[in-house]
Amino acid sequence: MHNGARRERGHAIIPGSFDPPTKGHLDIIARAAAVFAHVTVAVVVNPQKRDPLFSLDEREQMLRESTSGLANVTVDHFLGLLADFVVQQQADVIVKGLRVVSDFESEMAFAHMNRALCGVDTMFLMSHEKYSFISSSLVKEVFEQNGDVAQFVPATVLRSLQAKRTSARPQEA
Ligand code: PNS
Repeated sequence: MHNGARRERGHAIIPGSFDPPTKGHLDIIARAAAVFAHVTVAVVVNPQKRDPLFSLDEREQMLRESTSGLANVTVDHFLGLLADFVVQQQADVIVKGLRVVSDFESEMAFAHMNRALCGVDTMFLMSHEKYSFISSSLVKEVFEQNGDVAQFVPATVLRSLQAKRTSARPQEA
């Protein structure tokens, strides 16, 4: 099948907290963008993990910068149920990455629930093995302990993390 035919295939939503976006997220977004006509990366307004490091605006901005080379990707946000946003967007499918087997159990429940709520299926892409251990929370933990996270996040995210560190540093007397 040539690429043009693939691009006929509708509108996919990739939801997440993206606090912050990682190279694993970007890999899934790029691979979905090669399959679907349009991809909306949808940032949840209130992540279940409370007290996000990055504001909604910051998370959206980092995603916009790191997906700027993908013409069929847009970045948006949603409040409340993902299923309601999917209906509002008239999307055809939800796309998520699966990193490890332990992701499967909760993702299967989410997929069933979302299909029950809005009739839209979730399709899973296997995370690239080189990103299978990366999560936003692990990136934050390593960064907060002064570890080098450059290999795990896009350049724009690294700059934003470093800016957080600078702004958090107490003024020297
Ligand atoms: O990046 P995350 O934190 O794994 O993303 C989780 C997310 C945002 C996809 C999930 O928490 C979600 O869909 N939240 C919106 C609220 C909702 O629809 N909950 C019911 C899920 S079946």
